[in-house]
Amino acid sequence: MINDIQEIILTPEQIRNQIKELGLKISSDYQSDPPLLVGILKGALPFLADLMRSITIPVIYDLMAVSSYGASTKSTGTVRIIKDLDIVIENRNVIIVEDIVDTGLTLQYLVENLRSRKPKTIKVCTLLDKPSRRVAPIQPDYNGFEIPDVFVVGFGLDYAEKYRNLPYIGVLKEKIYQNT
Ligand code: IMP
Ligand code: MG
Repeated sequence: MINDIQEIILTPEQIRNQIKELGLKISSDYQSDPPLLVGILKGALPFLADLMRSITIPVIYDLMAVSSYGASTKSTGTVRIIKDLDIVIENRNVIIVEDIVDTGLTLQYLVENLRSRKPKTIKVCTLLDKPSRRVAPIQPDYNGFEIPDVFVVGFGLDYAEKYRNLPYIGVLKEKIYQNT
């Protein structure tokens, strides 16, 4: 797998430290009214797992799955809910936990969809942000790292379901996805 990676841009240690910071920030912001973390499968799973353990106040979490790119590196903009929440979010403080905000189309759909269920508040926490590619006006409230316009994998992020288990975040060699 390492042969498919052009460059490691975030090491496990950098990721760990930054998630710790995000957890402390969320803990202090939500002290009086603990949040419900909504992890977006599958990419956000490692991030969610580390983030919730960095949060020092009581939290609960649930999971949602939405359709992604398939075996392509470009967003289609069409979002479909594949697995919905089990928990009713009405009157709760929701934090959507995502792996990366790219065009923002996925989150735009998700925020709109969840907002219609009348949560008390709704915020977005993402591990990575690629602001240069934004199409929808989505601004994460909590962000781990801003990255340039490169296709990255690892720490939950995939290309055609591969590389999610890499402990770092790396740029995928272009030849791997050239013909998709
Ligand atoms: P958006 O709707 O364009 O913001 O895309 C969000 C989703 O696209 C993320 O949840 C990822 O699954 C996927 N994605 C966007 N950029 C990358 C990347 O660089 N590597 C892997 N997946 C990505
Ligand atoms: Mg994906």
